[in-house]
Amino acid sequence: MINQEYILSKASDLAKQIHGHDASGHDFHHILRVVHMAEHLAHAEKTEAVDLFLVRLASYLHDIDDPKLSDGKEHRLLMFLAKYEVPVYYQERLVDIIDNLSYSSSLKGKVEQTIEGKIVQDADRLDALGAIGIARTFSYGGAKGRLIDDEDKNATMHHFEAKLLKLKDLMNTKEAKRIAKKRHKFILSFLSEYDKETKRLD
Ligand code: ADP
Ligand code: NI
Repeated sequence: MINQEYILSKASDLAKQIHGHDASGHDFHHILRVVHMAEHLAHAEKTEAVDLFLVRLASYLHDIDDPKLSDGKEHRLLMFLAKYEVPVYYQERLVDIIDNLSYSSSLKGKVEQTIEGKIVQDADRLDALGAIGIARTFSYGGAKGRLIDDEDKNATMHHFEAKLLKLKDLMNTKEAKRIAKKRHKFILSFLSEYDKETKRLD
């Protein structure tokens, strides 16, 4: 029997250490929101049995090897799994969930995900929507030295069309779809207000 609480506390410590000082919208609070949202989605899931340990562990560790935050050479996830002797059964499922989580990996083609993978993906994507999604987007742009708005495709305002407005239709679970609808609407109202203010239509 593995000590799940011990492994989760070590995963939380590692996430705090890696994300603690991130100013690109991938800070430790993002990780905690994903953990809490994933727990909520897991409890809302009525049709399938969900392994909460796997959901929590994947949520804590989902961004530790993100190429935007690391050089990708360290394989922190694999090192963590080996150090804390996480059983191979869990290792395989965890690596699978995290590999298929990102928006960019989902563009490469649809893979059949486990219910735990669907939940963590939804939780991560919900954090890109609503008021918090808008805050994270400008934080990311600022951290990368990008302009708020410009004809240049790198300007942060382009990210709404390019990605954020597409997320609502990519949710896996029923509860995530409900929350995404609300947060999507909030983004639309932000964009409409932004348009008015910047085009002086007020
Ligand atoms: P995922 O891993 O779910 O694909 P990312 O790590 O790419 O998500 O993005 C997480 C958040 O970082 C986005 O929701 C957004 O707020 C911000 N972000 C990522 N790329 C950009 C970008 N090009 N411009 C502005 N914000 C971005
Ligand atoms: Ni994330």
